[in-house]
Amino acid sequence: MAAHGPSAVAAILVAAGSGERLRADVPKAFVEVGGQTLAERAVRRFGAHPSVGRVVLVVPADRAESAADRLRPFAAELVVVPGGATRQASVAAGLAALAPDTEYVLVHDVARAFVPDSVIDAVVAALADGADAVVPVVAIADTVRRGQPGAVLDGVVDRSTLVAVQTPQGFRRAVLVAAHERAETTATDDAALVEALGHDVVSVPGAETAFKITTPHDLARAEFLAAQSSTPGGMP
Ligand code: CTP
Ligand code: MG
Repeated sequence: MAAHGPSAVAAILVAAGSGERLRADVPKAFVEVGGQTLAERAVRRFGAHPSVGRVVLVVPADRAESAADRLRPFAAELVVVPGGATRQASVAAGLAALAPDTEYVLVHDVARAFVPDSVIDAVVAALADGADAVVPVVAIADTVRRGQPGAVLDGVVDRSTLVAVQTPQGFRRAVLVAAHERAETTATDDAALVEALGHDVVSVPGAETAFKITTPHDLARAEFLAAQSSTPGGMP
């Protein structure tokens, strides 16, 4: 990877969602946890990572200017662009803002505010080993069944055959660009688009702390993690 130069890996941080399920009075990425917005936490984490060059932050259009002003100190090369109506459209907006020499791209949900460096490292290492697409995964703790809430359920799905997928997801840039150009459906993540083109998606270990802040309860859990990480001897 080093042979590709410092601008080889870029990060697209998607932060343009409204955060309906969180029910806060600002878009989710601008909610503060432990005194920092989720957007700031993501820009700081990826901006400080030694493998990451350009950081592209994708935000609601009316936040782009103020976010760029406020977050510029936290990444050597920060570009802030307006997002789209779906996550997929927001990722596409981020892809359009990459430098031409970008070889690999990490796509990350800003809502996963406490992703540890070890997960970013593992994704970058798998790309360096030649993977086209890499996703962090964790085991599923609950028993899983087929069916809809409220309806009579079908059988149990063997959860040992399943994993939950997190971000950052890593891609060879050309592969992800092609997958977005050819996308016929809306997918909830980028790996699904790349897989639809026939590329293998490899996995690396995710982390419990990389959970996606989705509901008010998740926010309470995030506050707990923020308090721990600011305690001497607490989590990094
Ligand atoms: N996202 C985005 N653009 C969108 C929708 C989502 O950039 N049009 C981003 C969110 O900001 C978030 C990530 O994609 O960091 C994962 O989405 P999710 O957790 O669903 O966030 P929201 O869509 O904001 O939340 P909700 O679905 O509850 O409205
Ligand atoms: Mg959403």
